[in-house]
Amino acid sequence: MLAVHLISFFFSKLQEDPTKMVDRFLHAMRLHDDQLIDISARFQAEMKKGLSAESSAAAAVKMLPTHVRSTPDGSEKGQFLALDLGGSKFKVLQVKVREGMGVRKGGVEMEEKIYPMSKELFNGRAPELFDHVSESLKDFLHVKNISLDKKHPLAFTFSFPCEQTRLDKGLLLSWSKNCRARGLQGKDVVQALREAIDRTGGMDIEVLAMVNDTVATMMTCGFDDQYCDVGLIIGTGTNACYMEELRHVDLVEGDEGRMCVNTEWGGFGDDGALSDYITEFDQDVDATSINPGKQIFEKMVSGMYLGELVRLVVLKMAKLGQLFDGLVPDALRTKGKITTAHVAAMDEYKNGLKNTRDILVELGLNPSQDDCVAVQHVSTIVSFRSSNLVAAGLAAILTRIKQNRHLRALRITVGVDGTVYKTHPQYAKRLHKVVRRLLPECQVRFVLSDSGSSKGAALVTAVAQRLASRKRQVDETLAPFKLSQEQLQLVKATMRAGLEAGLKNKGPSAVKMLPSYVYHTPDGTERGKYLALDLGGTNFRAMLVKFKKGLQNNTRLYHKIYTVPLEIMQGTGEELFDHLAQYVSDFLDYMGMKKAHLPAGFTFSFPCEQTAIDTGILVSWTKGFKATDCEGHDVVNLLREAIKRRNEYDLDIVAVVNDTVGTMMSCAYEDPQCEVGLIAGTGSNACYMEELKNIEKIRQKKQKTEGDEETPEAVEDKDDGSKGDKKAETSETSKMCINTEWGGLGDDGSLDDIITPFDAEVDHNSVNPGKQRFEKLTSGMYLGEIVREVLLDLTRGGLLFRGRVTETLKTPGIFQTKYLSQIESDRLALLQVRSILQHLGLDSTCDDSIIVKEVCGAVSRRAAELCGAGMAAVVDKIRENRGLDHLNITVGVDGALYKLHPHFSGVLQETTRVLAPQCNVTFLPSEEGSGKGAALITAVARQKRDR
Ligand code: BG6
Ligand code: BG6
Ligand code: GLC
Ligand code: GLC
Repeated sequence: MLAVHLISFFFSKLQEDPTKMVDRFLHAMRLHDDQLIDISARFQAEMKKGLSAESSAAAAVKMLPTHVRSTPDGSEKGQFLALDLGGSKFKVLQVKVREGMGVRKGGVEMEEKIYPMSKELFNGRAPELFDHVSESLKDFLHVKNISLDKKHPLAFTFSFPCEQTRLDKGLLLSWSKNCRARGLQGKDVVQALREAIDRTGGMDIEVLAMVNDTVATMMTCGFDDQYCDVGLIIGTGTNACYMEELRHVDLVEGDEGRMCVNTEWGGFGDDGALSDYITEFDQDVDATSINPGKQIFEKMVSGMYLGELVRLVVLKMAKLGQLFDGLVPDALRTKGKITTAHVAAMDEYKNGLKNTRDILVELGLNPSQDDCVAVQHVSTIVSFRSSNLVAAGLAAILTRIKQNRHLRALRITVGVDGTVYKTHPQYAKRLHKVVRRLLPECQVRFVLSDSGSSKGAALVTAVAQRLASRKRQVDETLAPFKLSQEQLQLVKATMRAGLEAGLKNKGPSAVKMLPSYVYHTPDGTERGKYLALDLGGTNFRAMLVKFKKGLQNNTRLYHKIYTVPLEIMQGTGEELFDHLAQYVSDFLDYMGMKKAHLPAGFTFSFPCEQTAIDTGILVSWTKGFKATDCEGHDVVNLLREAIKRRNEYDLDIVAVVNDTVGTMMSCAYEDPQCEVGLIAGTGSNACYMEELKNIEKIRQKKQKTEGDEETPEAVEDKDDGSKGDKKAETSETSKMCINTEWGGLGDDGSLDDIITPFDAEVDHNSVNPGKQRFEKLTSGMYLGEIVREVLLDLTRGGLLFRGRVTETLKTPGIFQTKYLSQIESDRLALLQVRSILQHLGLDSTCDDSIIVKEVCGAVSRRAAELCGAGMAAVVDKIRENRGLDHLNITVGVDGALYKLHPHFSGVLQETTRVLAPQCNVTFLPSEEGSGKGAALITAVARQKRDR
């Protein structure tokens, strides 16, 4: 050790050039370009770590999403209050942003007042710190004569690392620099500010956005320079932010566009990544700081530490006898005696040496010329290292941006703030030079943010304010779709009343409650080979069903699907049924069964007044159908006649069933507890097993036949053509499946309270205005149209698609249920939502996509809730019919809305559970459609008939 001292002393005396001596002494701080490139590469790797979902939690460079998605575009406007906390000065400001027209952007006017911020406040309790902030704000309003009665939006620049989930919410991760106020770490900083403002009282302040100073600086500079995609602070602390591609920001949903990421690069090296570049002086600075082991890069770079680094080097050199003839004055031993301002002064171009002498004299020293030259050189090396490290960090960021954008050359502007950069011209010059040397292919412009960061914070807030007001308006538009529990209870009660009224048979009722002449769910004894025809869902289906002897659940099915063209659905009845006969012909050909004369079940999914299992008089068309000359006619006859006209094959049509009934039967084959059928598809409907005694129409018939001295069950046997059997006399025959046709609920005005103007418009434009009001709120055929009406309204109000109402948006039917299902899928990123919209010819932004998704969600949730309310009424009725406190029951379900929509079934089940708490309802999706159920009904009906 003594030898080292002697050698250095010897050197100091021999070596004439003090700068060379310092160069040697501070060898480790003099970074060459290859070292800078190495550091830059390490920083790039750290950025990746911070962005990735797997490694971000443990990353030293935090890469915090800021929720700032764009740089200013000149459309920002408004008047804002601003707070700027975390730099060397605490400021309160008023910022007025005028919207710019055309190429020339608007102007910004600012007024500011600096308020003192004591060390005690930074080291005390956070609520006291924030009370001071909020009292300063109130004082500012007073001093500047700003009304205390009006509401003022506020922008908050808070220059510490915060994990933001929204613009107006951010949890403080840790303090840095000179602050360590207790009780805020891990808490929402915006909330803490709001609470302090409430405590102060007497002001109406809306804190709309919180931004880091780097972000605010980028935005400030971006107001005048569209290429400004990077913000840099070299002040008390150091940090940088930049516009990253959203697809790389794992922690934020969405793939589209960009988001500003606050790198918090001050933490670079906290995991040891810079250990080979750390000197003993850095270690000393770190050890005596308020946050040892943290912000390692910041401690090598920023203003809070540069003076201290110089002091520690000079002290060491003095102790080694290399300066001041080995004299070590007390001033040099005192922390903080050399400041960043001193470093800047020593580094000045012309007066630097003189300044150095003055500073040293002020410290009580009597320096020689060589001492002054040496100390000045120490200061230069320390600040040069700082600018070199910043250059390496910036080079990493710029390289990343260049790679992200697949560019060979990059034109970019870096917005910069901070006392080190501002007050130290040599520093800035060196920084620019090194960055350009490291990245010769990039055209980098540095712009000083001379007005501080609050202008940028106000610009972010202006965008936030616009979004908040847009959100408010969208929420208002969607509010009528959000039904309260009370409203849903009322819908349940209305449905219950509708079911009861429909059973009464006193003239036509909204809920028709049509008897199906199906008395039993299947018992597994059904056998044979049947044709099932299925009209009324999305498609026409023909199906061959075989029930094998002794093998329940071993059904074989063959089917073919046909699309019924719109002109046929809405042409003449004859054309429609001729078409069906032709589809059947094709299917029989396909199966090679033209000559088989099969028994057939006909699922006909429209309201039919049945007097027997094989007759069904169409009451009225629903959904998109309106073929002429069908209403009031027996659809079985219409089909038989069409087959006869064809004169090509023969069918024995044994049963006509509604799809709800077919679905219930099909599911009951698997689960005997299934006594309810539900369709949530193109249309909406339910059926269930009702007590025969409650069905007025059947009771009347019964009374009539009783007059003829026949048993009630004989009515059943007569109606489906059989002569009466033993089973008919058992208690099981006391029930009949009722097709509720609940889609008609509300046709008498009973749902008017929940019907929105959008629903009214959809109803008005439908083929059956005033009819099927419940169905028009709940089924796949209409949900897309409701969504379209809402989107039209929002667009007309300028809240969507930039206010442009396109022809596509005006086109009925563009939003099919499948698109709603896709748009609402949780697995889908916003980019995919956007591509669906684009496919539909709607050119949307990211914000548009969010709103469209929200609209779809509100409309489909209401549909599921209403279905749930209807189902609760049905199951509770069954429970009460049976005098039970608790009912276990299964509902067989079919329909594209139920099966394909990502949330419909969940919401339906939950609503049913809440509204019918005494029922335990299991929803069982029908596997093979209603055809199997229709075949089962046909099997039973034929057995009876043929007996
Ligand atoms: C100011 C900004 O100009 O610079 C602050 O308005 C920022 O938001 C500060 O924190 C950074 O520099 P310094 O040197 O004050 O820490
Ligand atoms: C099918 C049934 O699976 O679902 C049809 O077989 C029914 O009878 C249909 O009408 C309902 O769903 P969608 O979505 O086609 O209307
Ligand atoms: C510190 C803070 C950071 C801030 C920087 C500059 O590094 O952690 O958030 O941007 O200082 O003020
Ligand atoms: C319509 C029909 C009804 C059918 C339902 C589901 O509401 O009127 O009979 O069950 O759609 O397809």
